[in-house]
Formats: sequence, C-alpha cells, structure tokens
Amino acid sequence: MSFWQDKRILVTGGAGFLGSHVVDQLKRKGVQQENIRIPRSRDADLRRWDDCVKAVSDIDLIIHLAARVGGIGYNMGHPAELFYDNLMMGVQLVEAARLAGVGKCVLIGTVCAYPKFTPVPFSEDAIWDGYPEETNAPYGLAKKMLLVQSQAYRQQYGFNSVYLLPVNLYGPGDNFNPESSHVIPALIKKFVEAVQEDRDVVEVWGTGQASREFLYVDDAARGIVLAAERYNEPAPVNLGAHQEISIKDLVTLIADLTGFKGSIHWDTSKPDGQPRRCLDVSRAEKAFGFHAEVGFEQGLRETIAWYRAQAKKI
Ligand SMILES: NC(=O)c1ccc[n+]([C@@H]2O[C@H](COP(=O)([O-])OP(=O)(O)OC[C@H]3O[C@@H](n4cnc5c(N)ncnc54)[C@H](OP(=O)(O)O)[C@@H]3O)[C@@H](O)[C@H]2O)c1
Repeated sequence: MSFWQDKRILVTGGAGFLGSHVVDQLKRKGVQQENIRIPRSRDADLRRWDDCVKAVSDIDLIIHLAARVGGIGYNMGHPAELFYDNLMMGVQLVEAARLAGVGKCVLIGTVCAYPKFTPVPFSEDAIWDGYPEETNAPYGLAKKMLLVQSQAYRQQYGFNSVYLLPVNLYGPGDNFNPESSHVIPALIKKFVEAVQEDRDVVEVWGTGQASREFLYVDDAARGIVLAAERYNEPAPVNLGAHQEISIKDLVTLIADLTGFKGSIHWDTSKPDGQPRRCLDVSRAEKAFGFHAEVGFEQGLRETIAWYRAQAKKI
C-alpha cells in the first residue's frame, strides 16, 4: 500500500473497457474511490486544453487511457478523427500535467504503432523501423507521438512519464458494437447470434492468414498498475501474452466455444490488417515483474459468458 497511500490518481478513460479494469486493480491495491478521478467525456473533453488543465489539478499520478479506438472497419472509416483526437488528448494532457507538477504519467500506446512488417516477436527496439500497417496508421502514429513526448519531457524537464504498448485486448466489458468493435467481440457476437438464430453460415473478414496476439483485459490492467508502481524509465514496454494465433484458428476456436456447427465464409475482399502480431514480452517481466496469467481459452470462455449474460439483459 505504501506507494499508493494517499495518492490522488487521474484515470482518463477510466469508465471504458480497459479503464474500468484498471480502476478495479487500483481498488485491489487499497486505493480509495475518493482518490480516483475519472473524467467522463461528456463533462471533460480532453481534446480541449481547458478541460485537460482542470482534469490534472491536485493529481499525483495519471494513467492516460482515454482514446478513440476501434477495429479495422472503424479505423478505415474514421482515420482523421482517430489521428486528431488521440494526438490532441495525449499531447495536451501531458503538457498540462507537467505544468501542474504531476508526479508521474503512465501513457498507453498500442501495438498498432509498430511497423507493418516488424520481425516477430516485436521487440520495443524495432518500433521506429518502418511505417505502420496502413489501415491503422493514423491511430497508431498519433499514439506513438506520445512516446516521443514522454521521452522528450523526461530529457528536458525531468518529467516522469512512462509508455506502455499493449497488444490487442479482449475480455468482459469489451465493445460489442459492430460499427467499432475489435475482432474478438465482433466474432463472438456473430457466432452467438448465428447459434441463437440457427443460421448455417457465418461470414468473416479477410483471408484468415493474418496472425494476432491477445491479452486478457485483467492482465493488461494489472500490468499497467505494476508499471505505475515500479517502472520509471524512458524506454517503451510491451504488454502482451506472447501467444500468436492465426485469425483462421481464432475463428475456429470461437466457433467451437460458442457451439456453432455451420460453415464459415471468408470475405477476402475485406482487408486482413497487419500480417502478423506477436510481442516480445521480456522487458515487462524484467522491468516490473509482469507476465500474463489468464490462458487464452479460459479468457475467451469468460468473455463469451459475459456477452451472453449481457445480451440476455437487453
Ligand atoms: N482495446 C484494445 O484492444 C486496446 C489495445 C491496445 C491499446 N489500447 C488502448 O487502451 C486504451 C483504452 O482503450 P479501450 O479499448 O478501453 O477503449 P474504450 O472502452 O473506448 O475507452 C476509451 C475511453 O476514452 C474516453 N474518451 C474518448 N474520447 C474522449 C474525450 N474526447 N475526452 C475524454 N475522454 C474521452 C471515453 O470516455 P467516456 O466513456 O466518458 O466517453 C472512453 O471511456 C486506449 O488508449 C487504447 O488506445 C486498447
């Protein structure tokens, strides 16, 4: 508790998917609710300077999760907003935090910041070796600028800001809206509904050849809180599970876990996104003792169960 004792913490995006799990982890560390500030976008639009200034006042530690996010389709439809909103929120928040004398900032980047053809497993040292995959480049690059800001502010101002790169997340509380969801919730929704409606065919995007790595949201939240407590260096750090799976195998696994017995139609006119994703996770283990704990199949079962329970309530 000593690190967390009496710390006033700002969790931007704290009511979102990852944010709500980070807040749960903070409470498990003994942080009192009254010491956690969660600015909602309807009251504090962090794209605006004045709202950033208000949000950071009397704060010791910031965990910056607020962002505009989505899957491949959402990225293709909203590249400008993804670039502008994510850049403006982060850059202004960190500057406001520095001016207000905030003790530490934990900035959340994304695996989408990596070059399109990064050698697998992605080492943090390869992050500047090329342009990101085109469909998510505006989002990935806007978030990557916060790494530059973080390192520059440490160098010039001695400002303690650290930068983490989580791989694709999944878990209970994920966004299942088909307009903006990521691949796992999109697939779970499709297959659960196909089973309910007794459909024989499910259509999925791409060729299935691409690969991804997924980190259970509770693990990601635990990694972020560990880094907040123990990591104070300029180098970026991956947060992942180091487990690569092809989209084809992922689709088959989710079809099995949801009880779908029909056939799968691959819409190859839709993009695959980045060809491969799998992170080198050794730095997080060495620097602050983080490794993922939740097995992939177990995490998927929990997520499917959560989605089914939510869908029943509607
Ligand atoms: N999900 C993933 O697979 C993944 C992977 C790697 C990294 N990340 C990173 O993790 C973080 C959280 O992602 P998430 O999936 O949890 O997203 P999310 O559920 O959409 O949460 C994002 C939160 O950001 C807040 N927000 C958006 N625009 C805002 C604005 N203009 N002003 C203030 N707040 C604003 C929203 O607050 P309100 O609810 O109040 O509107 C929302 O709750 C992001 O930084 C994302 O880049 C996510």
